[in-house]
Amino acid sequence: MTEPLLTAKGIVRRFGGITAVDNVDLHVHEGEFLSVIGPNGAGKTTLFNLISGQDRMDAGSVTLDGEDITNLTPHKMAEKRMARTFQHGRVFGNLTVMDNVLIGCHTRLNASRSRVPVVSPAIELLKALIRPKSVRDEEEAMRAEVREIIATFGERLTPRIDQPTYSLSYANRRRVEIARALALHPRVLILDEPTAGMNESETAEMQRIIGDLKAQGRTILLIEHKLNMVMQLSDRVMAMDNGKVISEGTPSQVRNDPKVIEAYLGHSTIGGDQPAEAELMPEPMTAAGGAE
Ligand SMILES: Nc1ncnc2c1ncn2[C@@H]1O[C@H](COP(=O)(O)OP(=O)(O)OP(=O)(O)O)[C@@H](O)[C@H]1O
Ligand SMILES: [Mg+2]
Repeated sequence: MTEPLLTAKGIVRRFGGITAVDNVDLHVHEGEFLSVIGPNGAGKTTLFNLISGQDRMDAGSVTLDGEDITNLTPHKMAEKRMARTFQHGRVFGNLTVMDNVLIGCHTRLNASRSRVPVVSPAIELLKALIRPKSVRDEEEAMRAEVREIIATFGERLTPRIDQPTYSLSYANRRRVEIARALALHPRVLILDEPTAGMNESETAEMQRIIGDLKAQGRTILLIEHKLNMVMQLSDRVMAMDNGKVISEGTPSQVRNDPKVIEAYLGHSTIGGDQPAEAELMPEPMTAAGGAE
């Protein structure tokens, strides 16, 4: 088997007396879809924050395609094309949909960049003011690409492309965030509860979009509480509780693992407003493991 694209080893993060992530290993192969599940407070978001450079780990290492990317800053992570969305949604409210997504293209700009040592910032400023044809052409190409990415979301975002994102619905702001992550041409796409706060039909629509991204062969890491979605999308699932990995395997192996059931039953809810029992309904005896 080939080497994984992304490997995290021995990840530890402590907050005061709490060990939020306790010696966790994770790997994902190119084109693989790995989901991380676990009850509230299990350490899932903290783990993703560490892998994607939003937070610094106390111990451990992360490699991307063999290159050490441990504790790189978020902008360096973006240069490595590690793209993520956030559990609570983060968009620039005063910027339009177009400009929010264009930000995702930033690391790919070439024409407006200068590689001349020392004076680069001055040259870049000058180019931004004068806007030579090469800069205008590059920007237009990126705008065209952003329009294509936004079209992925059907008619949800296209009619709103020039509106500031503060005027959008919550679900649309989450879509903008995913569009921005896609604009980075991610090598790894990291999604933290992309359907949190969405109703059933919005969730189904998002699941279709994420399914299409998977079908394109993208490498995806997903945190999600909606287990039916996890079961249908994932190649592999990892379950966490109290900062530790408690189970790992195929979706149905993990769902039926007594340690996972016990971890969930210890919580009245497993995220959002889903009662734990509802999410852990016995799985139908199908080979696909689908449980709709
Ligand atoms: N910045 C922080 N400071 C202190 N404690 C934190 C911080 N971030 C997370 N924690 C704690 O670390 C633990 C893991 O939190 P985390 O947000 O990673 O869980 P989670 O699995 O993503 O949960 P949820 O499903 O509710 O999103 C929790 O006990 C949380 O309170
Ligand atoms: Mg979380």
